[in-house]
Amino acid sequence: MSAHLELSQIGKTYSSARGRAVIVQNFNLKVAKGEFVTLIGHSGCGKSTVLSMLSGLQPPSEGAIILAGKEVRGPGPDRGVVFQSPCLLPWLSAFDNVLLGVNQVFPNAPRAERHQVAEYYLSIVGLADSMHRRPAEISAGMRQRVGIARAFAIAPKMLLLDEPFGMLDSLTRMELQQVLVDLWRRDQKTAVMVTHDVDEALFLSDRIVMMTDGPAAEVGDILTVPFPHPRSRQEVLDHPEYSRLRDHLIEFLEVHAHRRKTGPAEAPADTAASVPLACPHPEPTPLPLSTP
Ligand SMILES: Nc1ncnc2c1ncn2[C@@H]1O[C@H](COP(=O)(O)OP(=O)(O)OP(=O)(O)O)[C@@H](O)[C@H]1O
Ligand SMILES: [Mg+2]
Repeated sequence: MSAHLELSQIGKTYSSARGRAVIVQNFNLKVAKGEFVTLIGHSGCGKSTVLSMLSGLQPPSEGAIILAGKEVRGPGPDRGVVFQSPCLLPWLSAFDNVLLGVNQVFPNAPRAERHQVAEYYLSIVGLADSMHRRPAEISAGMRQRVGIARAFAIAPKMLLLDEPFGMLDSLTRMELQQVLVDLWRRDQKTAVMVTHDVDEALFLSDRIVMMTDGPAAEVGDILTVPFPHPRSRQEVLDHPEYSRLRDHLIEFLEVHAHRRKTGPAEAPADTAASVPLACPHPEPTPLPLSTP
């Protein structure tokens, strides 16, 4: 497999007055161009930590992350990030929130083209009729649609999604999973997503990376999902392999939960802290605007 993204021997350690906490260690992963990979694991194992190193919001303590042949050394417009709640500017409409990112990444593109791109992605995520409303005037699910549109509209090399549907009701969640998978297929983006939901992982992923519990979490196992694309939810549920794969994931999580309760694992120094949710602020880059 030719890797579009490669994480080699990644480690992340936090130091505080109470000592050193090794969160992630020896984390190795290769992701092919156009592949959809999910990270799954127990709460606190370090999934968001891995994603925030991929986004460049924090550097690894050890190892290197290479994206399209270049080392990741900070946030950049080559990565579109979607968090659990999108950081939208409340005084701007959905359209202007998406346009803001497009303007930052493609400052030299013609105005009409930038507007077209924002409109295009907002329409695809189902907001054609509400794109001129402000965040407070739309639902949580609609706000997350704006977040997804914004991530795709900057034409990134890859998408990073940290539990993007975690705050939504199950119906909206299923709708947005479909929106995401349709956009992902259309734009052929490489994607790494964190989820707690095994069914979501099986519906969306080409491969599912199971992380061991921390401290010093690493890749425990990788499941290849054989369902052909395009996928319909019903076809996935009816696939003869579905329950075996689902059981495999659940068994992995149960074994690690059990080890966590009984094992010698030492709590990290600062268990109360978590990775801050931050908006991606892409640096302006004079890239040609790639319209779909
Ligand atoms: N800035 C920080 N300083 C110290 N420890 C941190 C910091 N950020 C995260 N941690 C610790 O790293 C560990 C992994 O956190 P992380 O947020 O990556 O877990 P997670 O797998 O995403 O969990 P969840 O599923 O609950 O979102 C946790 O123990 C957390 O307390
Ligand atoms: Mg997390």
